[in-house]
Amino acid sequence: MRLVVLGMGYLGAAHAACMASIGHEVLGVETDPARLAKLKTGQLPFYEPGLTDLLNKTLDSGHLVITNSYSEAAAWGDIFFIAVGTPQKRSDPSADLSFVDAVIDELVPQLRHDALIVGKSTVPVGTAARLSERAAALSDKVTVEIAWNPEFLREGYAIKDTLQPDRIVLGCVENGSAEQTAREIYEPILNTETPFIVTDTSTAELVKAAANAFLATKISFINAMAEVCLAAGADVLAIAKAIGYDPRIGHRFLRPGIGFGGGCLPKDIRAFMASAGELGAAEALTFLREVDAINMRRRNRMVSTASDSCGGSLLGKRVAVLGAAFKPDSDDVRDSPALNVAGQMQLQGASVAVYDPRAMANARLLFPTLFYADSVDQACKDADIVMVLTEWSEFVNLDPVVVGRLVRARTVIDGRFCLDKRRWTDAGWEYRI
Ligand code: UDX
Repeated sequence: MRLVVLGMGYLGAAHAACMASIGHEVLGVETDPARLAKLKTGQLPFYEPGLTDLLNKTLDSGHLVITNSYSEAAAWGDIFFIAVGTPQKRSDPSADLSFVDAVIDELVPQLRHDALIVGKSTVPVGTAARLSERAAALSDKVTVEIAWNPEFLREGYAIKDTLQPDRIVLGCVENGSAEQTAREIYEPILNTETPFIVTDTSTAELVKAAANAFLATKISFINAMAEVCLAAGADVLAIAKAIGYDPRIGHRFLRPGIGFGGGCLPKDIRAFMASAGELGAAEALTFLREVDAINMRRRNRMVSTASDSCGGSLLGKRVAVLGAAFKPDSDDVRDSPALNVAGQMQLQGASVAVYDPRAMANARLLFPTLFYADSVDQACKDADIVMVLTEWSEFVNLDPVVVGRLVRARTVIDGRFCLDKRRWTDAGWEYRI
């Protein structure tokens, strides 16, 4: 089957390479010249374990071709996946759908045969219906069907989450061709008994919003428990462990720390609240405001803990920040709690040295005024305080005795609850969370 993937960012590149790897002919469309040049030579503009290999394998086999031409795509493809970004608007918390709309405006007038367009991007409920009307107005000679097939992939697990997903959700119109087509496209995946949920487009759009809202709520719940534990002198890790054994709760997404960031959860819960407001159902999601507030409070609390550890002021103090990515095994710094904390401390007068194994280049672009060290050792040299803000295994496995020889004062703040407290205190460190 000839599949076109429109937008070769994180989601699109993973989807295109994975679909090519299961035997489809795939044309990836990327209009950004720098990204296009990289992708065409088998390089990814971001870090994702295993994906560079898969990209090269599928480019070499000829199953995947990359272009910037919508006219080529329109003439060639049978099914068109929308995989462009839906960032938070600069002016308000709702989703910016201009990239999604632009795909329809660019593609549909160039179609010369009937087509199925399948959205994968995260969008507010009602988008597929709105795009159907938009497409109909742009196509007088051909019929365009729009379906929605939300993506649940996590950075760091893009290939696994695409080829062995927990479930596939498809929102489509009754009596259309989308369900049968999706069954054919995903046949090797569905053959492994992956649950396949077919619904209307509004429900499919809401499944994604609901999933991310639930995950964000789970993290903020355990972080709220962390606040209570701090006040009570109790152990939040033991609480997470104990409640997680209840299968109705589960252990995953119960790790406390400086909270969630990245290009999805923060913007998606805000867009969800905005969308509920537009639907007249704002009250239903007011709890998400609290989820967001708990999350943002974690960052501020980290800064206060650091200031407190330095005797009440960060002025003139040297702070080593270990971690810049929003989570380990990623070079993504979008809404990264680690960088947010680093930036706040610098604004309070600290000299902040940041080190991350992968995310230095992106961090430099986003926060150019911070100092970026070449190694853990350089970051920690003469530090008054060491903060672990992304749980890379390099940091989790640090030897506190060795690091202890580099610093001015042995105070460590474990922003991800990832260090072995006993090891650090035994090595003479004051350990704080
Ligand atoms: C998320 C969803 O998991 C995915 O299904 C969706 O498609 C896109 O958004 P991703 O942004 O890659 O994926 O990251 P995820 O692994 O979900 O982590 C999000 C944030 O939550 C990270 O900052 C992480 O550090 C934090 N987190 C996660 C916690 O603080 N505690 C946890 O227990 C889990």
